[in-house]
Amino acid sequence: MHERLLELDNVTAGYAQDIDVLREVSLAVRAGEVSGLIGLNGAGKSTVVKTICGFLAPKSGRIEFDGQSIAGIEPHRLIDRGICCIPQESSLFPYLSVEENLLLPLQGRAKRFAGAIDARYEEALEIFPALKEKRRAQAGDLSGGQQKQVEFAKAWLQRPRMCLIDEPSIGLAPILAEGVFAWIEKFAQSGMGILLIDHNVRRVVRMSDTINVLSLGRITASGGREDFQGDLHEQVRQWLGLDF
Ligand SMILES: Nc1ncnc2c1ncn2[C@@H]1O[C@H](COP(=O)(O)OP(=O)(O)OP(=O)(O)O)[C@@H](O)[C@H]1O
Ligand SMILES: [Mg+2]
Repeated sequence: MHERLLELDNVTAGYAQDIDVLREVSLAVRAGEVSGLIGLNGAGKSTVVKTICGFLAPKSGRIEFDGQSIAGIEPHRLIDRGICCIPQESSLFPYLSVEENLLLPLQGRAKRFAGAIDARYEEALEIFPALKEKRRAQAGDLSGGQQKQVEFAKAWLQRPRMCLIDEPSIGLAPILAEGVFAWIEKFAQSGMGILLIDHNVRRVVRMSDTINVLSLGRITASGGREDFQGDLHEQVRQWLGLDF
């Protein structure tokens, strides 16, 4: 069994004081493994990410990374703990160049990256070749698929221990989506722990080591990949609590 990196224990959270969007959510992400989180629109999947990343403070429960509480951590401090987020919405600065977007998170952290920034940047351009010719372009002028490449290259450059990836394939043509899923596999193979959310449930199940189903803010089913194979449609309908 791999090392446990992230652990949520009975986390309740919400945007308004008296409305809980997440109710007693418990889940874990291990190093080198993909943990899939699936659920209907509005179930609270992105809220899980926002709570881990410190945009929302949990009302109760524990969030630990590497055995230490990260509840209420400032979002810009996450990377100092080794946590990176590729959010559902873009995290790029549209008026900055691709290169500036990629290097910005590394600046001011020279100690952590110990003089390896140039070599690492060149390596990232090899892994994400479309960025080579676009390095001087404004990020906002890139296509949706190219912007995703910048997001993943930015995360790769930061060498996080864990990456939270919310709806990476949304709006992408199937061939580009396959490229995105291949990068995620590369990330996990490098030893990163991945929390993966995507509407392509079949794909998430295929590439996840563990899967959690979120329905109306509660985890209603969890298990290994083998538990979620078979007649996926029927099972997922049951897990999501849909009776049709
Ligand atoms: N900033 C906000 N303020 C108030 N309520 C919000 C906010 N963001 C989300 N919500 C509500 O919280 C609930 C969960 O939303 P969330 O975005 O986490 O769902 P999701 O599972 O990620 O959905 P999707 O599959 O559409 O991305 C929804 O009822 C949503 O309307
Ligand atoms: Mg979402």
